Amino acid sequence: MPLARSLSVTSLSGLEEWDEEFDLEDAVLFEIAWEVANKVGGIYTVIQTKARLTAEEWGENYFLVGPYVESNVRTQVELIEPTNPVLKRTIDKMNASGCKVYFGRWLIEGSPYVVLIDVAFTAWSLDRWKSELWELCDIGVPWFDREANDAVLFGFLTAWLLGEYVAQSEEPPHVVAHFHEWLAGLGLVLCRHRQLPVATIFTTHATLLGRYLCAGNVDFYNNLAEFNVDKEAGDRQIYHRYCLERAAAHCAHVFTTVSQITAIEAEHLLKRKPDVVTPNGLNVKKFSAVHEFQNLHAQSKNRIQEFVRGHFYGHLDFNLDKCLFLFIAGRYEFSNKGADLFLEALARLNYLLRVNHSDVTVIAFFIMPARTNNFNVETLKGQAVRKQLWDTAQTVKERFGKKLYESLLVGQLPDVSKMLDKEDFTIMKRAIFATQRQCQPPICTHNMLEDSSDPILNCVRRIGLFNSSADRVKIIFHPEFLSSTSPLLPMDYEEFVRGCHLGVFPSYYEPWGYTPAECTVMGIPSISTNLSGFGCFMEEHIADPTAYGIYILDRRFRGVDESCNQLTSFLFQFCKQSRRQRIIQRNRTERLSDLLDWRYLGRYYISARHMALAKAFPDTYLYEPHDPTSTTGFRYPRPASVPPSPALSRHSSPHHSEAEDNDEDERYDEDLEAEKDRVNIRQPYSLPFKNKLPAANGAKGANG
Ligand code: UDP
Ligand code: G6P
Ligand code: GLC
Repeated sequence: MPLARSLSVTSLSGLEEWDEEFDLEDAVLFEIAWEVANKVGGIYTVIQTKARLTAEEWGENYFLVGPYVESNVRTQVELIEPTNPVLKRTIDKMNASGCKVYFGRWLIEGSPYVVLIDVAFTAWSLDRWKSELWELCDIGVPWFDREANDAVLFGFLTAWLLGEYVAQSEEPPHVVAHFHEWLAGLGLVLCRHRQLPVATIFTTHATLLGRYLCAGNVDFYNNLAEFNVDKEAGDRQIYHRYCLERAAAHCAHVFTTVSQITAIEAEHLLKRKPDVVTPNGLNVKKFSAVHEFQNLHAQSKNRIQEFVRGHFYGHLDFNLDKCLFLFIAGRYEFSNKGADLFLEALARLNYLLRVNHSDVTVIAFFIMPARTNNFNVETLKGQAVRKQLWDTAQTVKERFGKKLYESLLVGQLPDVSKMLDKEDFTIMKRAIFATQRQCQPPICTHNMLEDSSDPILNCVRRIGLFNSSADRVKIIFHPEFLSSTSPLLPMDYEEFVRGCHLGVFPSYYEPWGYTPAECTVMGIPSISTNLSGFGCFMEEHIADPTAYGIYILDRRFRGVDESCNQLTSFLFQFCKQSRRQRIIQRNRTERLSDLLDWRYLGRYYISARHMALAKAFPDTYLYEPHDPTSTTGFRYPRPASVPPSPALSRHSSPHHSEAEDNDEDERYDEDLEAEKDRVNIRQPYSLPFKNKLPAANGAKGANG
């Protein structure tokens, strides 16, 4: 007898567990994306973090489908024989017909199965498939657009895979195929055109046109309804991509996107209103000790400080203990990601800190990959000099220790004036001479290929923040994603975020924005905007986001200059906080993690799948739309004992001078506060889904 799969999804703040039993034994889920085991940006994070929950729900019947990229497979995937006999026959058949399809386990949490397709191996079919696409739907893909060519190959191959799977099945299976983003969308269009018995979902993580329009000089949000979409796409030479995206959105049984703001955008630009909004979640790590994440902050901060010691050698004229680390990270979309606004606000902050004689130094990191030919010499030299100083100190320490030991052995207290001899001083002087430097500490850690036209560097040149001694704000541009194997800053991204004080993401175009969400679950405050999916989501669900370290910049109702002033004011207020206030704020930020956990947010994906099954197989499944208010009802209240802004919260603390900062007291205060805040927010939620009729194999209807 087949076992009914059940999934238990936790709710927020002591809510009842949401337990749903439904019969899907004969159903199979394929989730198809170009970023399966292939990191490009945030879509990879969606797929990779969601896998555990989806694998728990679908077990052996869950398959991720992505492109075969050898370097990724070598490090992330264990290739095995397909366990499912139907899938094995499918893959064998495709491989016997001139494809290269691999099967394995992706070595991430949940260890999901992956089907990886080598698109280059089938490139010989490209022209044929392109003309078929033209015949079918009048979409012509130009030869020079490599990404679109990959999309055609990937689309035809995934549709082939699904068609073959259905053909190889003895009994008609209930297949759900969930496609992400335009690059994977053609597979969906072909499934529908071939009338495969497959329930299809298309999730878009942005719209192509939205991304392009925003990157230009367009008042995007005020003109959403006015754009002549075909012309705009044509002008930007992305008409064929736009058509693929729009076709996928229209052909899908269920169309979803990641935030309300992108849902409105999709309605105007793709001309279909999403059926479900599926906000992005994360796998939230719960530490057994409540303050463990604070310790991790301190550890990682020490490592960033070490890097800074090397980078600023010869110019370490600021107090590292009063140094705040800010950062922006993500794909290099200068204005979409708000790097332009951040730089301008940093220039204003520098002025404010200087005129107020602040002893705080701000170091702003820009982690955005650009074209480079490796680290530059000056940056590497900085770390070498730091290492040399460390080694010198160790050598002198050893010589000192030896003399001390010898003097104690003969029963004498050492003559301190003789503990360091001439040679020691020579060694130390030589080391100090090596730290002399004619230039300022570099802004950029790498040799840029397009140095003279790089937008960040050009903006730095304009605002004149060159890491000089007089400046209170310093800038480090690291044009490569972080890696623990880097010779310069050997930390992975997560460790780096933990060690920073504030993430700054003043995006103009950001359908969701994982970077501030990741900060939140690590207990690091962040700045996002009311034009980002994340910012709007937090605004909706938290009564006073600022009190929790979630600063939401208004880029919707203010002009650029006003938004920049607001950002400067957030930054300046942040700089005025004492250590004690930062610790309290981090505790509060971390308390919001549950809101962003897939265990909670995964339900929207589940809803989308049920809706698609009911649309594709109406004789078997029934979807009853639920009360829309039931998913939007809850809000985190303001922390009970806290004034709304960190600047004001100074008065709430009993000891507020920096000298009196005492972490232990702080934790105690904060625990009491957490107790007070533990409010029960009841938000019952049940899925609107039932099996209508017993499935062909005798499975029972869902919900009993
Ligand atoms: N990221 C990373 N390494 C870095 C910087 C960023 O892996 O050094 C990741 C980050 O964890 C996040 C993703 O890049 O998950 C960016 O996703 P987001 O949704 O913020 O933006 P996207 O690039 O998709 O527009
Ligand atoms: C954590 C650690 C403390 C440390 C503090 C530094 O809370 O547990 O021991 O003093 O971080 O905070 P800061 O905001 O100055 O980096
Ligand atoms: C896209 C968006 C980003 C979002 C990510 C995951 O890359 O630009 O805002 O977080 O997809 O949905």
